[in-house]
Amino acid sequence: MLTLQFGQCGNQVGHTLFSTVAQDLYSANTGVPSKRNSDYVQAGFDTWFKELSKNGKHLARAILVDTEQKVVNTVCSSNESNSMWNYSPANIVCCAGGGSANNWGYGHYIKGPQLSLAALEAVRHEVERADTFQGFLAILSSAGGTGSGVGSYLMEKIRDEYPTKTMASSIVFPYGSGEVCTQNYNTLLTLAKFIDITDVAILFENDQIHGICENLTKVPNTNFNDLNHVIGQKLAAVLQPVLGTTNILSTLVHRLTPHPQYKIATIKTSLLALPSCQLYDGNYKWNSIVWHLKQMLRAPALNLNLTDMETKMPSNSIPSRTDFAYSKSVSNILITRGSSIGNDTIVPVELNDEKLYADWVPHVEKIAHLHQPRKLLGKDKIAALVANNSQLHRPIDAIVDKAWNTYIHSAFLHQYKQHGVEEDDFLQAFAKIENIVKVYRELCSEEIIS
Ligand code: GTP
Repeated sequence: MLTLQFGQCGNQVGHTLFSTVAQDLYSANTGVPSKRNSDYVQAGFDTWFKELSKNGKHLARAILVDTEQKVVNTVCSSNESNSMWNYSPANIVCCAGGGSANNWGYGHYIKGPQLSLAALEAVRHEVERADTFQGFLAILSSAGGTGSGVGSYLMEKIRDEYPTKTMASSIVFPYGSGEVCTQNYNTLLTLAKFIDITDVAILFENDQIHGICENLTKVPNTNFNDLNHVIGQKLAAVLQPVLGTTNILSTLVHRLTPHPQYKIATIKTSLLALPSCQLYDGNYKWNSIVWHLKQMLRAPALNLNLTDMETKMPSNSIPSRTDFAYSKSVSNILITRGSSIGNDTIVPVELNDEKLYADWVPHVEKIAHLHQPRKLLGKDKIAALVANNSQLHRPIDAIVDKAWNTYIHSAFLHQYKQHGVEEDDFLQAFAKIENIVKVYRELCSEEIIS
């Protein structure tokens, strides 16, 4: 797999992801016999790293793209001298200049073409040298100008060159308020491109991840580092090796997106390796964890706000009242990691519940379960649910609404026009994303069952 990190957020999140998988691959607390562990470690290194550098460090299968040298310098220098991995200097693609001005148009039409020759050369080099190439994973924020604009420009070029390769993206949505004034336009234009280019777009919302950090770790003054740890662990929980597939990226796409209109997903996790969660190590049965994940798919009734169950720990007592309403999924993949023995086996039957799926979803496409007995990051049990679910229409709808409110007042449009983004481009992007909101919204049944 080749990871492409775009812009400040993409580079920071990507760096945390590589640090997380490296820490996991070197973990001594594996819970499995040494042969099984060495198969896991081998598969993990093949996915994320290539040969050793001259100073004995694994080199990441990653390309760093940015418009600010400062950002890549920070990311590269944050690898301590005793860390086991590093980035390949040849894979750092950067141009001088102070970023992309939080403007998708500037990133896409000015900086993208400037960086494209070097970036595509680095991509070709990596793809040609991989023994078995699993596909591409792009990481970026939708809100600034580089991740969104340069990212979509380059991924379009890569898609043209590798039309049949699996392509996934991890897109970080901005906080709902208090950030960049053009973030909603940038997100709209980014999503409109990535929906066409990539096979699956995995969304992370900074507000929601912030909630997980605040409630589960109870660390005051949550910062981007904390958010990135959660995002890095979510991605690792899904993308580290599992039994039964040698290409997790294509398995994800194949199982999760049976219909071309539904290409968006989120990752829900139960029991991350966060400091406070370590207190509970080993206390939870698998059926409580699976139940916890199911509760994350509950639908709010009558527009009331529902507690985000991902900000809570699981509970070993499943309530007697279980007739909740759920948001509907097109497909879900459960990925479990850790021991499953005796009377504590993993039975994902709760996630097969027909209340969780749109009526037209065939039984066999509802839920796939992948397992890995080897512990992730030394934790007894970790579970992730990759959900292609109607809940996704809410954050997208909120952004489209805000973008439309600024658009009808023609606010900031001249900044985009001067770089070649015309009104028609906006209108096409609105139409495309509004349609996505519509099809996802129509999946849901908001009825209250009791
Ligand atoms: P320019 O700054 O215009 O060159 O674009 P960029 O893509 O480099 O911008 P950046 O990645 O900083 O995007 C801004 C958005 O990303 C804001 O919504 C921030 O909240 C978010 N962001 C920035 N850094 C991080 C990070 O390390 N983690 C997370 N989760 N979000 C980040």
